[in-house]
Amino acid sequence: MSKLAPAGAAVMLTGGAGYIGAQTARALEMAGWRPVIFDNLSFGRREMVRWGEFVQGDVRDVDAVREALKRYEVVAVLHLAGLKSVGLSVARPDLYYDHNVAGTGSLLSAMRDCCVNRLVLSSSAAVYGVSAGGAADGPFDEDAPKSPSSPYGHTKLATEWMISAHCQAFGASAIALRFFNAAGADADGLTGDIRRDNTHLIPRLIDAALGQGEPITLFGDDYDTPDGSCIRDYIHIGDLARAHVAALSAPAIPGAFEALNVGTGVGHSVFDVIDVAERVLGRRPDFTIGPRRPGDPPRLVADASRIRGALGWAPKESTLDMIVETEFNWRRSEMFRRLALPPR
Ligand SMILES: NC(=O)c1ccc[n+]([C@@H]2O[C@H](COP(=O)([O-])OP(=O)(O)OC[C@H]3O[C@@H](n4cnc5c(N)ncnc54)[C@H](O)[C@@H]3O)[C@@H](O)[C@H]2O)c1
Repeated sequence: MSKLAPAGAAVMLTGGAGYIGAQTARALEMAGWRPVIFDNLSFGRREMVRWGEFVQGDVRDVDAVREALKRYEVVAVLHLAGLKSVGLSVARPDLYYDHNVAGTGSLLSAMRDCCVNRLVLSSSAAVYGVSAGGAADGPFDEDAPKSPSSPYGHTKLATEWMISAHCQAFGASAIALRFFNAAGADADGLTGDIRRDNTHLIPRLIDAALGQGEPITLFGDDYDTPDGSCIRDYIHIGDLARAHVAALSAPAIPGAFEALNVGTGVGHSVFDVIDVAERVLGRRPDFTIGPRRPGDPPRLVADASRIRGALGWAPKESTLDMIVETEFNWRRSEMFRRLALPPR
């Protein structure tokens, strides 16, 4: 069993110019690591790289990854690069398999060539699909059935399998962090999600309250939940960033792969979120109720006890108030106005 020590050692963050990657770079640097951001800037922005070195490159380009691993003497990789929209993955599964699965294949080849044996993957609760979060179910753990309901979820599960096989074959060690609903922005307003046409509930509620964006239609209020709306587990990106650092610092067993849920274990309904948004923003966002969206499970809440035991990680910043407040500050900041990606 071996343990990496920070002391300025270089860690590559693929996708480190994106929403979660930028925040993770900050947490890494604070913990004493030297972040090396490797990003093709398809969705990330150079201005989001505030902590560490920057290399513009694509994870599917094995030579470019190899070159960066060698140049910076990288000891471990946090792999966040990829595409993440469930809806777009239905329309363009080819792109999702290319960036997420083929991209991970190239990364693993380069890591093997350069004898880099530690990897942390940003995975997703999308690997579980609809079967895990039935109306009567409480929080579910990592052994819940995996039946992803979108090509995006398929690529995340395929990536986990690929990494697990790589570890067994070549003696590497890896942890996949299965994020539940990532939300919020940097508490100092330095980074956040730059998508103007964000489809997630909280940014859309904030845009509605700010009088921007489309009016909100909620997807169904007739689920078998206490108030009829869907229940989700919202996790602040500051907590996600700390989970990456904890995973990196854990003792590693050669050949071992482990997947861990990263959530709070507490579910909030859509109407809970609206109530908090009203309190924090000082006005109730306008919304209408539409039909259910196909494939939306009624309840998705993590049993996050395994990550507490394995890494000693627990959420600290994931209250709904904190999430709504930081996202609100971010979306009306000068930085957001300057960096926001136009609707695609
Ligand atoms: N945000 C969420 O709600 C959420 C939830 C679960 C899992 N995840 C996973 O976390 C990771 C990061 O998500 P995010 O929200 O920061 O997304 P993001 O789109 O903000 O960041 C992804 C980054 O990857 C880069 N990228 C994409 N394809 C690349 C390629 N082929 N080579 C190099 N760089 C590439 C983009 O430019 C971008 O900067 C993703 O893998 C995503 O699937 C995100």
